Amino acid sequence: MYDLGPVGNIPRGEGRLFRVGSLTVAVFRTRAEEVFATQPWCTHRQGPLADGLVAADTVVCPLHAYRFDLSTGRALGHACGDLETFDALVDPAGHVHVRLPDSSPARQAQPQGGCA
Ligand code: FES
Repeated sequence: MYDLGPVGNIPRGEGRLFRVGSLTVAVFRTRAEEVFATQPWCTHRQGPLADGLVAADTVVCPLHAYRFDLSTGRALGHACGDLETFDALVDPAGHVHVRLPDSSPARQAQPQGGCA
């Protein structure tokens, strides 16, 4: 797993982008002190999910308000596809750790595709 630093660097109810080598991942901290990690781009038109609104365990894309379940990545109320999610946790020292597989689509420098 990769250490992304203190959880306090992510305000409650917000997300932040992290780069791990050539990989990019969006990490979210909920108001209930849970952390989740997903691919950085929305499956609709590649909106920047880390800038989205975090409500409970969902994120709302800032571009067109499509919603996703942060724990499963599941698309909620639309058919643009689910997000890839990654294991994330906060260790006893308060650091966020994520597990990113080598084959992750997050490795892509630019998102591809989109849905209507
Ligand atoms: S790009 Fe995310 S909802 Fe449109």
